[in-house]
Amino acid sequence: MKIAVIGSGGREHALVWKLHHSPSVEKLICIPGNPGTEKLAANVAVTIDNHEAVIDVMKQYSIDLAVIGPEVPLVAGLADRIREAGIRCFGPGIQAARIEGSKAFSKDFMKRHNIPTAEFRIFTAEQQYDAIRYLDELPVPVVIKASGLAAGKGVIICSDREEARDVVRSMLQGDAFKEAGSTIVIEEFLVGEEVSIFALCDGARFVILPPAQDHKKILDGDKGKNTGGMGAYAPAPVATDELIQHVKETIIVPTVRGMRDEGYPFTGCLYAGLILTESGVKVLEYNCRFGDPETQVVLPLVDYDLAEILLECADGELSRGKIPFHDASAVCVVMASGGYPDEYKTGMTISGLQNVKEKDGVVVFHAGTKREGNNIVTAGGRVLGVTAIGYKNDFEETIRTAYRAVEKITFDGAYYRSDIGGKAVGSRQ
Ligand code: AMP
Ligand code: GLY
Repeated sequence: MKIAVIGSGGREHALVWKLHHSPSVEKLICIPGNPGTEKLAANVAVTIDNHEAVIDVMKQYSIDLAVIGPEVPLVAGLADRIREAGIRCFGPGIQAARIEGSKAFSKDFMKRHNIPTAEFRIFTAEQQYDAIRYLDELPVPVVIKASGLAAGKGVIICSDREEARDVVRSMLQGDAFKEAGSTIVIEEFLVGEEVSIFALCDGARFVILPPAQDHKKILDGDKGKNTGGMGAYAPAPVATDELIQHVKETIIVPTVRGMRDEGYPFTGCLYAGLILTESGVKVLEYNCRFGDPETQVVLPLVDYDLAEILLECADGELSRGKIPFHDASAVCVVMASGGYPDEYKTGMTISGLQNVKEKDGVVVFHAGTKREGNNIVTAGGRVLGVTAIGYKNDFEETIRTAYRAVEKITFDGAYYRSDIGGKAVGSRQ
């Protein structure tokens, strides 16, 4: 099978890496890819938002299956265009992608289907005064979300009402998030551990991948600003088999069934961002694609031909309800550019990559890198995902392996958290 992976981050490198190990894959291309994917796939330099060009490339390479990584092209309808061109695609169409592209849509969807989530109300620009009045009904902290895509920055947790009123005004007046914030969700603040669950869906059925936890904050101890994710680990011990069974029954099944019944079956990776509260598991958000960096720790655990599963999903013919996993743990430490998530410099030469070897149980996934002559240089906020794979019952050693590898890699201003995976150790009996 010939596969095209679309995207250029750590998630896409992890997908390419896993698909490279799939016996059923004969050719891999990555559009546009990065210096990590180029070793395993043919990178084709086309900008993803040019849907026609992406499809032309796929036709040129006689691609059998497209796998779309990021949410932006999914929400813009790239999966539909690809299917219309007669190419199979793992990724939801524009209607199903609203589950991530519009928080207003996804909250209403959850309400219609009795899927547990935070109490909420939705407001549009004309309803600014109602929104401000609603704030007085809720305890603080209160959570305000831009409904549209905002690159992970559209969620503001306000610890007092004055701040909340300012946030509501700036979002609804279009100052803060432009069109994405012209509709907002105001919701109850929930407390608990967060878990990411991925369900590979064929529109009607699904298989669940091992649960993961990411570390969204920039500083150790989950302090400081939110980021795209500073590291992850899987399987998350807090998500027991019992809990996953419960999540399937109360969240995944009604979501997949509800979307099918409403006429937009979900094909692709349904990401349920969950929070384990005192009053039960609730959905914080859905994403319509694999999570990053979670994918970097989840895919190494899959003990099955990934290409086969993705193709079955794309064809609407998932033939099994479960796939096997390795009896392993995985830990990903993100190395970021100094200053991230605020301003940072790029173009720093990365050295030491050749000292980290897969045979020692570590894969370095590229996220924000670029080739410059013979060098690999930094080209983004999150630069590398250094991922160690070890024994399932020895998270401590997997964590140590990841950090030993991190220490071998250097670039000017490199920053990483030093407590990735710590929670997995802390919560184990
Ligand atoms: P979202 O993009 O909706 O997942 O939100 C991003 C992050 O904001 C989540 O991973 C949580 O850490 C936090 N968050 C979102 N909604 C809530 C909520 N209702 N209560 C507490 N934290 C939240
Ligand atoms: N790790 C969070 C996300 O992919 O949205």
